[in-house]
Amino acid sequence: MVDVLLQPWSEGDLPLLQKLLGDPGMMEYLGGPESPEQILRRHQRYLHLPEEGADHMFRISLKASDEGVGSVGHWKKTWREQSMYEIGWLVLPAYQGQGIATKAAAGAIEHARQAPKYQYMHAFPSVENPASNAICRKLGFTLLEECQFEYPPGRSMVVNDWCLDLLET
Ligand SMILES: CC(C)(COP(=O)(O)OP(=O)(O)OC[C@H]1O[C@@H](n2cnc3c(N)ncnc32)[C@H](O)[C@@H]1OP(=O)(O)O)[C@@H](O)C(=O)NCCC(=O)NCCS
Repeated sequence: MVDVLLQPWSEGDLPLLQKLLGDPGMMEYLGGPESPEQILRRHQRYLHLPEEGADHMFRISLKASDEGVGSVGHWKKTWREQSMYEIGWLVLPAYQGQGIATKAAAGAIEHARQAPKYQYMHAFPSVENPASNAICRKLGFTLLEECQFEYPPGRSMVVNDWCLDLLET
């Protein structure tokens, strides 16, 4: 089993973000690849997230080599008129299928649980994304419903709404 570490997003992580978000295959269920400008803006945003806020983005790295292989994070979302966390994950193709996203997401959930600002965490994977739906199921999220979700802004997709109670362990 591969051991992973979550590290706060840092200056050197731009090439990793370009590989994750600039690749059409990676972004198949996320509305297509982002442009270099969008990725740079996102990188800057990740770098300047306030430490005490609800939004946190981590680089997923391999414990053995410190190589960056993906990203995982949680952020505030208003959904059905309530504030809650949304969680999201990406792992580079060469490292998929080894349980890395599952371990990293478990770490991000643990991080949110340390001082939860909101009781609930949701994930909204496309109904067509079997790996992400499997991760939600494995990590104890409850499937609430299939629904329409806007991502990226202006584009509607059909997702599963998965919910985890952070106050229940
Ligand atoms: C989704 C993603 C992060 C998964 O990363 P990963 O490290 O390969 O995930 P894991 O290995 O931890 O777990 C994947 C699980 O999905 C399962 N899975 C994968 N493909 C599957 C399929 N076609 N049908 C059913 N289950 C599937 C795996 O079997 C595994 O479960 P298991 O450990 O019980 O066998 C990765 O594919 C990715 O980055 N995709 C592109 C970006 C993306 O779609 N992000 C999610 C947005 S919600």
